[in-house]
Amino acid sequence: MSDNVILVGFMGAGKSSVGRLLARRLGRCFVETDDMITAQEGRSIPDIFAERGEAHFRALEEETVRLLALKSGDVIATGGGLPCRDGRPEALRALGTVVWLRGEFDAVYERAQRAGARPMLAGRGRDEIEALYRAREPYYRQADLTVDTTGINPDQVVAKLLLLLRERSTLSPKGRGPQDEPQPEARRVHQREGRP
Ligand code: S3P
Repeated sequence: MSDNVILVGFMGAGKSSVGRLLARRLGRCFVETDDMITAQEGRSIPDIFAERGEAHFRALEEETVRLLALKSGDVIATGGGLPCRDGRPEALRALGTVVWLRGEFDAVYERAQRAGARPMLAGRGRDEIEALYRAREPYYRQADLTVDTTGINPDQVVAKLLLLLRERSTLSPKGRGPQDEPQPEARRVHQREGRP
């Protein structure tokens, strides 16, 4: 197992800005899976979707997950759909500590629309995007740690995340807590949702 920090979450969750800040704070390299794909393909994500379709993009993501095994000690921001395949959450957890940047749908949706060209949003209405968000939640929820980003800025998200990462490495001499124990933040989320 390598000691990467892997950020997951829906489009607009803040993975890029939080990842960049976190990497700076930890003195680590910052990597984005979307950048790995565009570098390898020599064209932008919207062009890949337009010219080859979503299925081809998902195949490139699969290959990218295999390449991530070569990384160690990096902060990695994943594309919003990358963790959402059966077996993917486990594959990501084998690469390091997976962190879900969880935001309320409305806030995340608004941010996703504001910044960047996102082919998954094109031609889809709000309800359809919310359905996609809900369908993806069970995959994101399998992260090792969850940070609720509602109403706070990227600096504050990083501060919360650093505390959770420190708590986790203090709890476990190997820098890794027990898999089946929900972390404090996730426990609070589960309680709000009426789950154990
Ligand atoms: C996607 C999210 C995008 C990018 C691609 C597909 C998705 O990344 O990987 O457009 O399926 O949610 P961001 O989450 O960084 O926007």
